[in-house]
Amino acid sequence: MNQNPTQLATAGEAYEPLTGRWSRMVAPLFLEWIDAGRNGRWLDVGCGTGALIQAILDAEEPKEVVGVDPSSAYIAYARREIRDPRVRYEVGDARALPVASNQYDAVVSGLVINVLPPSGQLSAVREMTRAARRGGTVGAYVWDYAGGLAPRALFWSVATALDPAAEELDERVQYPICQPDQLARLFQSAGLHAVETADIELEATFSDFEDYWDPFLAGYGPASAYLLSLPADAQQALRDRLRAELPAAEYEPFRLPIRAFSVRGVK
Ligand SMILES: C[S@@+](CC[C@H](N)C(=O)[O-])C[C@H]1O[C@@H](n2cnc3c(N)ncnc32)[C@H](O)[C@@H]1O
Repeated sequence: MNQNPTQLATAGEAYEPLTGRWSRMVAPLFLEWIDAGRNGRWLDVGCGTGALIQAILDAEEPKEVVGVDPSSAYIAYARREIRDPRVRYEVGDARALPVASNQYDAVVSGLVINVLPPSGQLSAVREMTRAARRGGTVGAYVWDYAGGLAPRALFWSVATALDPAAEELDERVQYPICQPDQLARLFQSAGLHAVETADIELEATFSDFEDYWDPFLAGYGPASAYLLSLPADAQQALRDRLRAELPAAEYEPFRLPIRAFSVRGVK
């Protein structure tokens, strides 16, 4: 990817308010659950703006953390935010990781598996497994788009009620891999042992309606892309309907539940 400096700044900044802020809440809970041990060598696949890397630094006393992502814009954001000599970055693809085999105590990935095309998901987990040392941990988490991501589900239920054509973009049906049984099967198919899954439940907090709505205008992800494709009057209609669905949001902070599914296995 070739981006100018403005794009480098804005890609990460568009990501953070819509998803990064929740990813930063899931990451420590996920690390506690995978329990991969302190002082290890870590690989974070699809590291994006660095939510999981920061959580690893905070909790795991790692010897080393390598972040891989195809987006040089996200890596630029992460480099700017995380200044720690134990961290290095590689621009690269989960399906052909630019790292040596059998090196890492823990290979992890947050909110990435479902953004890969279905045909590439198994290759990615095989690559994660290749990078892990024997006995090392491989783990990942994804949102429960179908039933447990209320801020986004609300957006799509209103969008599809106003415009049935929005259905083909609706994230609630786009990601069949985001189910515990599918994740477990994927990890087993990659040759991992002792595969387990868990739910991670959180609450998303919003200071007011604008705090909920404005991130959809920033251009990150399918919901934002859909919204920005609409003419101004349709954007306004969607905003008004969402506002009506969240009556308390005009005056006070509010919360919506979010859930991630996590999966881990041993090489
Ligand atoms: C939802 S973001 C998650 C970022 C970060 N892991 C987090 O938890 O905040 C999805 C990430 O997957 C990355 N991604 C997309 N395609 C990828 C691929 N083929 N290989 C590796 N990462 C990819 C994106 O660039 C983006 O950083």
